[in-house]
Amino acid sequence: MLTEHSVADLRKRIQRWRAIDQKVALVPTMGNLHAGHIALVKQAQKLADRVVVSIFVNPMQFGPKEDFAAYPRTPDADKLQLAVAGTDLLFTPEVDEVYPGGMDKVSRVEVPAFDGILDGAARPGHFTGVATVVCKLFNMVQPDVAIFGEKDYQQLLVIRRMTADLCLPVQVVGHPTVREADGLAMSSRNQYLTKAERTQAPLLRRVLSETGALLRDGSKDFAGLQTQAKQRLEEGGFRPDYVEVRDADTLAPAAADHKRLVVLAAAWLGKARLIDNLPLDIGAPQDKTVVLSRPETVG
Ligand code: PAJ
Repeated sequence: MLTEHSVADLRKRIQRWRAIDQKVALVPTMGNLHAGHIALVKQAQKLADRVVVSIFVNPMQFGPKEDFAAYPRTPDADKLQLAVAGTDLLFTPEVDEVYPGGMDKVSRVEVPAFDGILDGAARPGHFTGVATVVCKLFNMVQPDVAIFGEKDYQQLLVIRRMTADLCLPVQVVGHPTVREADGLAMSSRNQYLTKAERTQAPLLRRVLSETGALLRDGSKDFAGLQTQAKQRLEEGGFRPDYVEVRDADTLAPAAADHKRLVVLAAAWLGKARLIDNLPLDIGAPQDKTVVLSRPETVG
């Protein structure tokens, strides 16, 4: 596996692949890799000839009171996992390489369609930081395709929208959430949980599944479902930021005629802010057992 730290060296490597018409995929990450990230790498390998993974803990997407300094950094373990997975190139720039003039006056990418709601409201400036760094990474690597996890559902929509609005020639592909055996979505932030909290954590997924089951059964009482879900989380020791039923494509509040919904939740458990979501296609035919009747005998 090649490793590059500068944009100039990265470009030289990629130019060689382009010269022989190889397709390039990018998997942007902040490191501290787990099986969720590696699943994105495997998906990328199916879609392109060469896979570039970036590791960059992006200061612009962290609020002043958030965990930028404490965010887990495990470069040696990450490198090993990426090499074993068959990654072609690891791009791991320093902050000065990405923001040479500092962050204060740098041009920014705003995605107002999805900012200001849900995680955008809970974390002001977060999605501007994400969109800005992903736009820069797209321009540095110039990939044909880039893979993002559905675990960060709103982030995926922000990136799709930015890519479309700015006509970036990159195909954005979503990958389903990879989970622990007990249903907890894998996340670098799970390690902030104490042992006791770790046993409580799968409740987040269970509450989403229960809410999803009621929606599939035809419930349209979205406000009631949200309140009930938040109560269940509070009873289980969480401090919920939000549980919301939204249109899966626009993130507008759910309405009775929406067919593609998503239930999104963010909740604190001790020092960890966990997020998860459940996309639902309630327009699709339900899984029903079909009983074939025997032809009647006419007597
Ligand atoms: P990070 O949290 O490191 O995640 C990198 C990618 O892995 C994202 O696309 C995220 O959605 C995906 N991912 C994380 N956990 C996952 C899981 N359990 N299953 C499937 N995919 C998962 O998200 C970021 O970094 C940053 O915001 C970034 C896009 C790199 C911009 O800085």
